[in-house]
Amino acid sequence: MLPKSREEFDDIYIVQELMETDLSTIIRQQTQLDQEQICFLVYQLLRGLKYIHSANVVHRDLKPKNLLINGNCDLKICDFGLARALDPQIKLKPKVYSPYVQTRWYRAPELLLQWRDYNQSIDMWSVGCIFAEMLRKKIFLPGASAKNQIELIFDVLGSPNEQVLQMAPKSPLSISVNQMQKKRGRDFEKLFPNGSKEAIDLLRQLFEYDPTKRITAEQALKHPYLSKYHIPEDEPIAVPVRYLDFEFEEYNLTIEQWKDCIYEEILLYHYPEFSKDYESNIKKGYSIMKHIVNNDNAKQLDQIQDEDEEDEEDDVPQNQQNQQIQ
Ligand SMILES: Nc1ncnc2c1ncn2[C@@H]1O[C@H](COP(=O)(O)OP(=O)(O)O)[C@@H](O)[C@H]1O
Ligand SMILES: [Mg+2]
Repeated sequence: MLPKSREEFDDIYIVQELMETDLSTIIRQQTQLDQEQICFLVYQLLRGLKYIHSANVVHRDLKPKNLLINGNCDLKICDFGLARALDPQIKLKPKVYSPYVQTRWYRAPELLLQWRDYNQSIDMWSVGCIFAEMLRKKIFLPGASAKNQIELIFDVLGSPNEQVLQMAPKSPLSISVNQMQKKRGRDFEKLFPNGSKEAIDLLRQLFEYDPTKRITAEQALKHPYLSKYHIPEDEPIAVPVRYLDFEFEEYNLTIEQWKDCIYEEILLYHYPEFSKDYESNIKKGYSIMKHIVNNDNAKQLDQIQDEDEEDEEDDVPQNQQNQQIQ
């Protein structure tokens, strides 16, 4: 819907298809998910992720609450609030590229250990956690703090080898992780008594510590566990996002300037001429928001809360966090 004018533009409505429930509600209500349904949900999750990842986008907050489900077992990935483009040209503000993303229980070890250059593989770790949660009907790795999360991961999956541990930059957490007692890990056959051999094999590849060796969405779709649903010609990819579409990531804008950006984004859908200019500027490599960066609204100072700061528990100094092993 087109606002009457920029001055009268105060509300945003996002219209989406209504889904019946989300996966977290289904698991919490202990609604019976049979093995066939779990397999179909994992397939759809991976199919969606293949598309998202091919656009050079990382979701960064995959968890059952962000997976919408219909009665016929259709799955849609929602909540792109923390999603980011990974184009190397996009210079993200340090906070935007913060390791403090994602709900802790679904967070990959490389995020917990604060590697700077994480990529799509962090979403694949979350897929492992979600898959395991469906099979076990309870949260797989419910860590009480970042350190406890690492302890749980090592306890359940076994300690990673030295080479992987060396990849983490030195931090109080990585030093204490290096001093942790080596763990052998639990027996997956016992953890997932209902899981087929194929399901367990896929889980192991999702829980690969080394992000460069962790299975990708595209590879996972070809895994024997999903052979029943895998149709290569019906698993589309996207056009990678362009640097200038995400130019806004580079600037610290005031709320009024954000409104300017969103207002102009709305205009793109209503005025073909506007959209033509936008595309032509992008083709020429011109900035599409210089006029906003320097406009009068820059002077309207306000306090913008960065969404990455939402995860407050992780801002507690490490030595004050709950250190118990569950
Ligand atoms: N299209 C939709 N249909 C049904 N429920 C939805 C839909 N979009 C979101 N929800 C519900 O609202 C919750 C919050 O939405 P979400 O997009 O995840 O925002 P956030 O977590 O940032 O508040 C979801 O976990 C889901 O339960
Ligand atoms: Mg959400």
